[in-house]
Amino acid sequence: MIAMKFIVREIIKEDIEIMHKWAQDKDIAKLSDANPNESFEQFSSRYNLYFNKNSNDGIKLFGILLDEKLIGRLELGIDKKNRSGSFGILIGEKQYWGRGIGKKAINALFNYAFIKLDLNRISCDVYAFNKRSLNLMKSVGMKLEGRLRQKELINKQYVDLILFGLLKKEYNGGEGND
Ligand SMILES: CC(C)(COP(=O)(O)OP(=O)(O)OC[C@H]1O[C@@H](n2cnc3c(N)ncnc32)[C@H](O)[C@@H]1OP(=O)(O)O)[C@@H](O)C(=O)NCCC(=O)NCCS
Repeated sequence: MIAMKFIVREIIKEDIEIMHKWAQDKDIAKLSDANPNESFEQFSSRYNLYFNKNSNDGIKLFGILLDEKLIGRLELGIDKKNRSGSFGILIGEKQYWGRGIGKKAINALFNYAFIKLDLNRISCDVYAFNKRSLNLMKSVGMKLEGRLRQKELINKQYVDLILFGLLKKEYNGGEGND
């Protein structure tokens, strides 16, 4: 991608409206377990809890920006006791899919989780039908750890969940992942 300014920063209240717009997209809702019929009020009430700084210890939410435009988000659940984290990613502006942004964003998240927070382990669960996300996890060096068969019921179909994990000692600082 040619010289666009890429930034990952913590989400702000002004991001919620656009994130709600993404959740209403049926393709995105299916891939990210969102409810496309959720009202803005219901959607934003969950984020208002996050902005109450006393209650956001176990989670960090980040916006992914290209040339200052919000195009996606990352969330990191943090289990302090076990020094482990689990994450999710969404590039909400579909025209940017397949251009290497997911990879770049996950590398930024790994850097935050392993270097800044000093976590020992990070994980991500992916629906078995989400080929792009499965490839993404492999391409950033995540290790395949297992498969939960028929774990979720989506549109009346049982779907397997594929489990990926990465340990700090396996993290190479994102080298070779660009
Ligand atoms: C999954 C998602 C985050 C990937 O981000 P992205 O920016 O499109 O991915 P990238 O361009 O960085 O591609 C990363 C890898 O995905 C794979 N990939 C890209 N386009 C693909 C396609 N059309 N089909 C299959 N795999 C594909 C490639 O293997 C690529 O790795 P490589 O460059 O080493 O070949 C993004 O498509 C998205 O937000 N999808 C909807 C929500 C979602 O599925 N979230 C994940 C839930 S776990």
